[in-house]
Amino acid sequence: MRFTVAIDGPAAAGKGTIGRRVAQRFGFAHLDTGLLYRAVGAKVLAGAEPEAAARALTPEDLSGPGLRTPEVAQAASRVAAVPQVRAALVDFQRDFARAEGGAVLDGRDIGTVICPGAEVKLFVTASAECRAERRLAELVAAGHDIGFETVLEDVKARDARDTGRNDAPLVAANDALVLDTTTLDVEQAVAQAIAAVEAKL
Ligand code: C5P
Repeated sequence: MRFTVAIDGPAAAGKGTIGRRVAQRFGFAHLDTGLLYRAVGAKVLAGAEPEAAARALTPEDLSGPGLRTPEVAQAASRVAAVPQVRAALVDFQRDFARAEGGAVLDGRDIGTVICPGAEVKLFVTASAECRAERRLAELVAAGHDIGFETVLEDVKARDARDTGRNDAPLVAANDALVLDTTTLDVEQAVAQAIAAVEAKL
């Protein structure tokens, strides 16, 4: 069985949590595509050339330590604006999406560019303040010494870069179900996502 769930939205809106829960519920594989850009960003911070780093990426790079830092997130959103970097990552994502057994991919351009034919498309969003509060809690729990204003600036800078770039900007697909997690709690958002998949299975 081939079945693709595309989840897009801005940073820290809850895509990852919803993606993991949907994948668990249906036994689908899950790919957090932000990790691809983070892994390239980390290599560029270490001195690599962006396109070469994207072409040389291996699955092992995605579990590397340190990909969740704010510095790597900013580097990821910079390399993500380079068309050659995006192009180098397309095949891996499409192969994952069409693998036997079903797949959930979350990112910024899954429903619009990578998998425009996905059976289910979700656009998960929330206010910048709400997303910054959640990201702050995660970073503090992981031991980072960082304040709300810094995290809010980081979220807003990435939003601006992700929505403003020419190649695959962050935008909801016309046929995406929008889940606004400013007002929905996790369980409500997950329940709506699961219902959307069940309706198409
Ligand atoms: O989702 P995450 O915050 O890990 O993504 C890091 C950065 O990677 C984003 O700010 C965005 O610029 C980029 N990205 C992208 N397309 C995707 C996934 C992530 O451009 N499909």
